[in-house]
Amino acid sequence: MTQQVRLDRLLSNLGYGSRREMAALAAAGGVILDGQPVRKGDQKVPVARDLPSRMTVRGKPVDPPPGMALMLNKPLGVTCSHKEAGALVYELLPVRWRARDPVLSTVGRLDKDTSGLLLITDDGLLLHQIISPRAAVSKRYHVTLARPMDGTEAAVFASGTLMLESEDKPLLPAELEVHSPTTAHLTLHEGRYHQVRRMFAAVGNHVEALHRDRVGGLDLPADLEPGQWRIMSDADIAAVFAGTAG
Ligand code: URA
Repeated sequence: MTQQVRLDRLLSNLGYGSRREMAALAAAGGVILDGQPVRKGDQKVPVARDLPSRMTVRGKPVDPPPGMALMLNKPLGVTCSHKEAGALVYELLPVRWRARDPVLSTVGRLDKDTSGLLLITDDGLLLHQIISPRAAVSKRYHVTLARPMDGTEAAVFASGTLMLESEDKPLLPAELEVHSPTTAHLTLHEGRYHQVRRMFAAVGNHVEALHRDRVGGLDLPADLEPGQWRIMSDADIAAVFAGTAG
């Protein structure tokens, strides 16, 4: 059944303004649902995925209600944090979304110097399902190295015995697909701090550029430029889990 929520509360939680402002906006005819003005702030409205196709606020489709997931092509130089100094990934999204409740969070993190596919959601359950070790959602990175590989790396990474400095548990097996002496794809089934950079450091190399191009079975769309984002469809979300334990 579709959840019903007071209009003033819904719009306020979507970051449009205070509840009092939302009630005033509704009274002034600024909110239209199914072609009719919603005049009262306390009127219940359906919080459904299709709400943006049914409701306008100040003449524009209402923002997606909670339960939203996005994919972003993270550019280099921005940080996956709500509050660190410098440019933040959330600043690439509409300003109003910073006031959303529940808040949007990145699904895991990419380093400031890593680009590529980053998922963002306000759905805590979905976030947990993607990062849960049980689901083992894989992540694929394109790696550019400072020095040519020596040919032993794939076996070391696949061994399940590689130990990173200051850790006490070996890494899960990871797959390396070599494209040239200094470029490869590396697929991981876990996410440890700076994992790809530390793996190559462990075999005496140095990562010069790192780009994530796949999460689970979801590829970064070729037409999504760095800094651009789009709302994930149900099919996109299903693709993330394709081939995992679920
Ligand atoms: N591994 C890294 O070293 N950095 C990332 O951003 C992701 C994986």
